[in-house]
This record gives sequence, C-alpha cells and structure tokens, in this order.
Amino acid sequence: MNRRTFLKRSLGSLLTLLGLSGGSYFYAREIEPSLLTITEESITSSQIPNAFNQFKIVQFSDTHLGFHYNLEQFEKLVSKINNLEPDLILFTGDLVDEPNNYHWNNKLIQLLQKLNAPEGKFWIYGNHDHGGYGTDILYETFEIADFTLLQNSASRIQRGDASFILAGLDDAMLGNPNISQSLEERTDSDFTILLAHEPDLADTIKDYPVDIQLSGHSHGGQVRLPFIGDLYTPAYAEKYVQGKYTISDKLTLYVNSGIGTTRLPYRFFCRPELHVFTLHSS
Ligand SMILES: [Fe+2]
Repeated sequence: MNRRTFLKRSLGSLLTLLGLSGGSYFYAREIEPSLLTITEESITSSQIPNAFNQFKIVQFSDTHLGFHYNLEQFEKLVSKINNLEPDLILFTGDLVDEPNNYHWNNKLIQLLQKLNAPEGKFWIYGNHDHGGYGTDILYETFEIADFTLLQNSASRIQRGDASFILAGLDDAMLGNPNISQSLEERTDSDFTILLAHEPDLADTIKDYPVDIQLSGHSHGGQVRLPFIGDLYTPAYAEKYVQGKYTISDKLTLYVNSGIGTTRLPYRFFCRPELHVFTLHSS
C-alpha cells in the first residue's frame, strides 16, 4: 500500500466512523442498499454483426446473499431484470457472501431459474464463490438453474450465421484465470466480450484481443465520500473501481458496483447497480 492509499484509507475510516454516526448512518445502512441504479450503455463496433443490432445484455454482480441481502430482495431484483427483457443475462461473481455458512435452499435455485433470457444465462466465479468451500455447490446451483459457467472458456453467441464470442475467466484471487485458454475459440473477426470478476485484470487483458471486459468485485467502493471518492476497495479492484474505462484502442472496461454489500452493510453515494448493454453494429 502506498502512502497516498494509506492516508486515504485512514482518513476514510475516520470519516466513516464520524460521518456515518447519525442520520447518514441510517441512510447508508437502511436506505441506499435497497435503491437500484440501472446504468444503460451502448456498445458500438464494426465487428458487431448486423444481426446483433439492439441486442440487449443485462449484467448483475456481487449479490452477496446472506450478508444483509436476502431472497425476498433477490426476488424483486429477478423481476426487475426480467422486466428489462434482456436477450442475454450475465452474472459476474459472488452470489453468496459465505458459502459454508449460507442456508442453501431451493428458493434460490428457483429464482435463478426464473431469470429469463432467450439467448442464454452465463456466470463466472468470484472470490466469494470459491471461498468457504463454495466451488462445487455454486457450480451445482447455477447448473440446475440453467446458467452456463465460463471458467477460462467461451461460448459463441449465434444468430443465424452471425456470432460473437462471450468468454469468461476463473477468479483471480482464489482460482486460476487463463486468458489465452478462454479465447481459444476466437477467430480474428470475432467481436469479443470477456467476463472477469476482478476489474484490475484489465491491465493484462489489454494485451489480448478483447473488445469489452465486464467486471464486478469492487462494489464501487460501497462508501464514497464527496471529494475523496471510494474509501476502500478490495485487492484487484484498486485501480478500476466504478463505471467505464477506456483501457486501450481496443479494450473498454465496465465495472459494475454490484447489488449487495460485504464486510460492512453500508452503501453511501454508491447505489446497487444493474448494467444494461445494447449492442450496435457500426
Ligand atoms: Fe469479489
């Protein structure tokens, strides 16, 4: 940790204790975590085939069920996602906060099953999915719910003869990400979207033929103060924290602020977020 980061964190912790002790504490704990921002982004590229014009992708991330986020809240989220009428649904990791302490149940599977996208539902592992011996149970849960795992692998999303590549990496903290392996199916003309739980992998991913990287993990910082910004973000989300980043001429990164919370049950100037991406052929 460098000196600037240390000072920012120390100041941030102090301000959190002082600033979140009154009405703002109530707001950060009880109100903002239940709000939702729907961020709409257009993705335009000459490599996107005409057949995918107006193709709608919804990404949700970091629900951290079991830690101040329950199935009743998740059920409402599922309805909101379905009401957006996505063609494709993507989950970018950290479904439950602590897999070994979570009360696993059919309702969770049913809700994941209820998510509806005609062209498929895909997911990648986050660090909390592998953590707490969650690897197998998360795999089974998503498998039953008709989600396809992208773990250093890819699926070709097809419309007639046209297609693009949707790839996904294993988690960087507790798994073994392999970018080359995830792109093995790709050909030179393929528009390519890569799911990677940790956003800071962008600095490595930019050396590969990837157009769009979709990440989560940062929670946007969860608590953001005016003039200071985020107070704390986890490892591998220290550089790219929230929103859109142009990483190179080719690669654009979008970091989703997630749905739930972890470590501390607060959100402040950092609402839960769904991303809606609409593809356009140029
Ligand atoms: Fe994470």
